[in-house]
Amino acid sequence: MDNTRPAQTDTRRLYGRRLGRPLSGARLHALETLLPRCQFPIPEKGHSDPRTAFPAQIDHLICEIGFGDGDHLAEMMKRTPRHGYIGAEPFINGMSALLKQILDEGIDPDHLRVWMDDAIALLETFTDQSLDEIYILNPDPWPKVRHHKRRIVNQDNLDLFARLLKPGSPLIMTTDLDDLAEWMVTEASNHPEFAWTASSQQDWKTPPENWIETKYERKGKMAGRSQTYLLFRRR
Ligand SMILES: C[S@@+](CC[C@H](N)C(=O)[O-])C[C@H]1O[C@@H](n2cnc3c(N)ncnc32)[C@H](O)[C@@H]1O
Repeated sequence: MDNTRPAQTDTRRLYGRRLGRPLSGARLHALETLLPRCQFPIPEKGHSDPRTAFPAQIDHLICEIGFGDGDHLAEMMKRTPRHGYIGAEPFINGMSALLKQILDEGIDPDHLRVWMDDAIALLETFTDQSLDEIYILNPDPWPKVRHHKRRIVNQDNLDLFARLLKPGSPLIMTTDLDDLAEWMVTEASNHPEFAWTASSQQDWKTPPENWIETKYERKGKMAGRSQTYLLFRRR
């Protein structure tokens, strides 16, 4: 397998730039130290079991799509270090921020595999029922109507998530934008393989127990916006 070959990605599906501010020395160090060790190998063709990419024994596999600065992912790893974690984030700034936390906080990198590109391109290579949880926290909004088809929560990607999640497994999505919340509820509710667990407004306006805030969530709250928490289960 060639770990260094870039994925074939339609960059129009990604929102904004891949490199923002120049990286600090500490972030560059974390990237150089951990990326070669943690980056997901690209399967040659067909489907493969993502567990085989981990040197550690993995019984429960969690995927976070678009992890931003990685606060949520790193905190999950600290709380439940025995699980396996796959994080996808195309921005090198976000990737280096996550890897710096892994290095600084002594989190075991053998339980982490990362992908610095479009998450969908990676997930398409996984075998059926290989994931136990998927998180999509504050996905890019693509606010213009003509760009709505680029939103990551859509019927094609829900087909993929349904293929990958084990029966009963959660798909957890958040946003602080009403329009996007409505879009994600409609898309997931219309998908035959997903069931919404909410029974009242309190369920989607209250964070699940032991919730870990993301950076966007914190910033949104400081600006007066409230977060919507959407928990769907694979039927
Ligand atoms: C609005 S930010 C939210 C970041 C983080 N989840 C949070 O809540 O703080 C959305 C993130 O999704 C990432 N992203 C966008 N499209 C993606 C894709 N196709 N695959 C993986 N990540 C993606 C972006 O680079 C960005 O970091």
